[in-house]
Amino acid sequence: MHPSNSTTDNGKVIMFTGKGGVGKTTCAAATALHYASCGESTLVLSTDPTPSLSHIFETTDRQKPKQVAENLYLQEVGLNEVKQMWDKKFGREVYEVFSTLVSVSYEDFVDFITSILPGLADEFMVDYLKGLFQQKTYARIVWDTAPLGQTLGLLQTPAMLSQHLKPAPRIYSKLKLGSETRRSVLDIIKGWEKLSGQDMDFLRKDVSFTLVTIPEALAVAQLESIMGEFDKLEGRIERLVINNVVQDTSSAFLMTKAEMQKPYIELIRQRYQGMEITEIPLLPSEIKGIAALQHITQYLFR
Ligand SMILES: Nc1ncnc2c1ncn2[C@@H]1O[C@H](COP(=O)(O)OP(=O)(O)OP(=O)(O)O)[C@@H](O)[C@H]1O
Ligand SMILES: [Mg+2]
Repeated sequence: MHPSNSTTDNGKVIMFTGKGGVGKTTCAAATALHYASCGESTLVLSTDPTPSLSHIFETTDRQKPKQVAENLYLQEVGLNEVKQMWDKKFGREVYEVFSTLVSVSYEDFVDFITSILPGLADEFMVDYLKGLFQQKTYARIVWDTAPLGQTLGLLQTPAMLSQHLKPAPRIYSKLKLGSETRRSVLDIIKGWEKLSGQDMDFLRKDVSFTLVTIPEALAVAQLESIMGEFDKLEGRIERLVINNVVQDTSSAFLMTKAEMQKPYIELIRQRYQGMEITEIPLLPSEIKGIAALQHITQYLFR
């Protein structure tokens, strides 16, 4: 099945970020379900190597994107696909630059780059997402796991590179490349710089970030550094979700856990006063399937 063309033109992208296992996929799925049920054509997207979105939506459909509910489409992009996309869009050019310096076969080079560079998949996904956003096929795009600030900082690498190359423009502008592009290294790097600038602009202007956390020491401690990275990039974290909050205190066990969580919740509320903060209770049952997700949706969109 194919996504219908949306009539709304204010497509909006929401990205979920936060440390491992705090509930990003669950919240992303519930958010996407909300917009879809409001009648907006919605895509929920992830680069998770384990297909956790398919698991949550209980689908084994191999279609890409696959429809999982009315107005709701799911797409999981594996590392191999990212590699192919990267290869198609940047591979040759990057290779040409590198092969002026080291001798390596093209295939080895692509393998090396896509497996070694941390965050390359995420970085490339930003570019891919920007394309989807501009096509306006969907009214909403929800990205399961957004890279953390550090990874997004990678987008600024080309700008850094060209900054470093500035003192030697004569050398680099003369270093002509292979027959394919016939462009100078400097031109190519300028091209990347422009592209990464556009990707950064997209992140700043068109994307809203939701940061998911849980009320525990480590997660709360990490919030500071995540917020700091986003500040540097001028990204907008619009919403903070505190997940797994114990609300049922009917047993001594739960009561102790709730007491443990309390100071962390207070700390978060005090520290991030200007932000929209939403609490989601720790639920007793597994969150799998549309009905279970709707439960989470209720808390996210009261
Ligand atoms: N409020 C909740 N109540 C009960 N269980 C929850 C809640 N939120 C999430 N879970 C469960 O916690 C587990 C981790 O959630 P999820 O996969 O959404 O986290 P994640 O941040 O995406 O993890 P990862 O970093 O590995 O991608 C899942 O089994 C999910 O069903
Ligand atoms: Mg996940």
